Amino acid sequence: MNKHASATDDTGPLTQGREFIWSDQDFARIKSLIYQRAGISLHDGKHAMVYSRISRRLRETGHDSFKGYLDWLEHNDGAEWQEFINALTTNLTAFFREQHHFSILADHLRKKGPGATPRIWCSATSTGEEPYSIAMTVLDTLGSGANYSLQCSDIDTKVLATAAAGVYKAENVKGLTADQLRKYFLKGKGNNSGYVRVKPELQKHIDFFTVNLIQDNWPFREPFDFVFCRNVMIYFDAATQRRVLERIHRNMKPGGMLFVGHAENFTDAKTLFALRGKTVYERV
Ligand SMILES: C[S@@+](CC[C@H](N)C(=O)[O-])C[C@H]1O[C@@H](n2cnc3c(N)ncnc32)[C@H](O)[C@@H]1O
Repeated sequence: MNKHASATDDTGPLTQGREFIWSDQDFARIKSLIYQRAGISLHDGKHAMVYSRISRRLRETGHDSFKGYLDWLEHNDGAEWQEFINALTTNLTAFFREQHHFSILADHLRKKGPGATPRIWCSATSTGEEPYSIAMTVLDTLGSGANYSLQCSDIDTKVLATAAAGVYKAENVKGLTADQLRKYFLKGKGNNSGYVRVKPELQKHIDFFTVNLIQDNWPFREPFDFVFCRNVMIYFDAATQRRVLERIHRNMKPGGMLFVGHAENFTDAKTLFALRGKTVYERV
């Protein structure tokens, strides 16, 4: 089979100019698989993104067609499923993204007082900028001896590895205060210049592990005071969002606070969460 299609091939407009033959059926199959595995709903505008990201998997695994790759994937219980999921997640994040949440977190921590032992879950950690922003907020508010627990999870193993390593381009921490940079980061030298690394003090109370928000096997034994579930539910349909919200509710203390993304709205779930500010909810 000729995997290289050009504008002169008769493989259809979707394939023109592309390395691999690409059809609506391939897209529909990938869409269904990632929905089943991760709850991610892909709309038709995502053809180019899906083609580009899964093409890389074809190359890596030595397949010359999407059909061949997907047949192999579906008959395979191995590591490629994780790679398939990692390829299709969108991991955009930043330090202190949606800054107002961190001010609200600090206010709540202050109310709890210096002896507080808050339990926090960052449920779509991505590459770590969000949990380290949470950790800086806790330490800046409760002091360097703060006794807290910060559980950090994501479905994507690749971003979790980056988060655990805690190494970032210096330009990514430009928005932090001079005090935060001095207290929480080491500046790279020599080969590492242009990079910063989070200090062990900032990682001390943090655990990183995989949790799939759509699976009913979350590993938590004790409820949380604060949950960050930001800019991930946006990828889920309404029924999936509701199931995840119910599960988050069961894993939080009454009066606990849930922080969600700027485009996420759960005001319909009044029996679970009450809106308390811009994209901040109190667990009922
Ligand atoms: C756009 S990032 C948001 C990162 C961060 N929470 C923020 O707001 O900056 C979305 C993250 O959700 C994760 N994700 C997608 N589906 C997931 C699922 N079913 N369970 C857990 N995490 C998921 C992705 O891997 C990705 O890292």
